[in-house]
Amino acid sequence: MTPPTAGPERPISTWSQTPPDTLTARRSGSGTFAPLSIEVRKKVYIESYGCQMNVSDSEVVAGILAKDGYTPVDRAEEADLVLLNTCSIREKAEYTVLQRINEMNNLKALNKDLKVGVLGCMAERMREDLLEKKKVVDLVVGPDAYRTLPELLDKVGTGQKAVNVLLSREETYGEIVPVRLDTNGVTAFVTIMRGCDNMCAFCVVPFTRGRERSRDAYSIVDECRDLVSKGYGEVTLLGQNVDSYKWRPHDVRAAVGSRQQAAGSEPPPVDFADLLGMVAAACPTLRIRYSTSHPKDMTDKVLATMALYPNICKYIHLPVQSGSSAVLKRMNRGYDRAWYLQRIAAIRHFMPDCAISTDIITGFCGETEEDHQQTLSLMDDVGYDMAYMFKYSERPKTLAARKYPDDVPDDVKGRRLTEIIALQKRKSAERMAAFVGQEQEVLLEGVSKRSAEHLYGRNSQNAVVIVPRFVSVPQADGSKRTAADHELPPGTFIRVRITSATSGSLQGEVRGVPDEIAHTA
Ligand code: 5AD
Ligand code: SF4
Repeated sequence: MTPPTAGPERPISTWSQTPPDTLTARRSGSGTFAPLSIEVRKKVYIESYGCQMNVSDSEVVAGILAKDGYTPVDRAEEADLVLLNTCSIREKAEYTVLQRINEMNNLKALNKDLKVGVLGCMAERMREDLLEKKKVVDLVVGPDAYRTLPELLDKVGTGQKAVNVLLSREETYGEIVPVRLDTNGVTAFVTIMRGCDNMCAFCVVPFTRGRERSRDAYSIVDECRDLVSKGYGEVTLLGQNVDSYKWRPHDVRAAVGSRQQAAGSEPPPVDFADLLGMVAAACPTLRIRYSTSHPKDMTDKVLATMALYPNICKYIHLPVQSGSSAVLKRMNRGYDRAWYLQRIAAIRHFMPDCAISTDIITGFCGETEEDHQQTLSLMDDVGYDMAYMFKYSERPKTLAARKYPDDVPDDVKGRRLTEIIALQKRKSAERMAAFVGQEQEVLLEGVSKRSAEHLYGRNSQNAVVIVPRFVSVPQADGSKRTAADHELPPGTFIRVRITSATSGSLQGEVRGVPDEIAHTA
């Protein structure tokens, strides 16, 4: 599934972008309708918690609400409607959101007309409970019911509470045009599928996001093309398990909005490798990433496609969860340690320079010290570039909650997590150090948070690279013009020689910039 971007316990995106055009209101008069340009837009503030999928979903919600007359604002205090797009993956994530919901009472005290909605996985999992126990909540909408937001908001507008948590087998929001939120204008998420059929024993996602379904491949390509036309340089294709992407053009229900509808003989389904190739070929200037792979389903065809296209980033997020086959079996992951290591070997075979990251859960039900040592030894063998590491948190309804006691004491989970984090820090530092001296292509994303004199971007392997914000650009005549005020704009691809590394980032000097910059400097 999609990894958390900035820690699932923190809000990771808010609305902040130019509002869509003002609505044109109409009123009747002497039998005709005269357009009236009056400001009728309502203001919405939306906060996303959890994984990248939630960030992407918030953008779909933004698209739906834009049509319903809502303008984004970037402070809850200014809004008529506050939406919290929530995460249920661990108990701590839910706790954080419940605290945030309580804070909404203060906002309502200042603005009696304010409406508060809960979206996403907690909406699905807690349903009416939220409306009953948290009086401040007016609206509860699950991940497959966002299209009904306008009607639900109408109901809320009449003073009633509204809820829709119906899950769907078909909803992909395929033709909804997302409104990009909190965007750097360079990188964007595009959801390619929804839900998950895997039933990993620890995971609440299949209960909150429902059955797996794949989005129309042509609508995905169109969205990527649109991003290119708007100046974006990178896209991340999102799904809980992208390797099981499968879309059949002949399936009229799934093909709503597609250009290819039932015609003649049955075409073969588009699988994930096909989709990657379609996007890479259609958008050769766009960098392509994706998340998340599943070790049991990741095919050599996907790896070969990645190797073939230079614009598909050499980076794979391949959650292992545990290095112990016994624990993997209890987790219902569908692979063992040997299979996982064989998939790692396949990645290295197809793309020796590919970075690999992972998710690890420590202290899952019945995990022994020996199991834990196996996780450490697997991490040592693989040498991950990066890892998201978590203590196991029991989730209601899951297979593990029903079948296995949560029997690893919290202090043991904590100690094992500390050991895992310490090892990963060493491994990340080793992997990053290996870049020193290399020349890398970097897509610039923006000004570094730590220094206004520096920009940050990423290389193909997803490592953060810091470079000076202002460059001296070699001229065609061989002279070097020092242009102290010449700034490299975000969205630019540059060549960088890596000069030093920490476990979290690389530092480098600019070696090459696109011609148009060299000629204007
Ligand atoms: N407890 C701890 N971590 C979990 N994850 C999923 N469910 C749980 C849970 N119950 C982790 C997995 C997954 C990542 C997104 O979150 O490692 O890959
Ligand atoms: Fe990911 Fe497994 Fe959860 Fe599906 S069930 S979202 S594959 S962890």
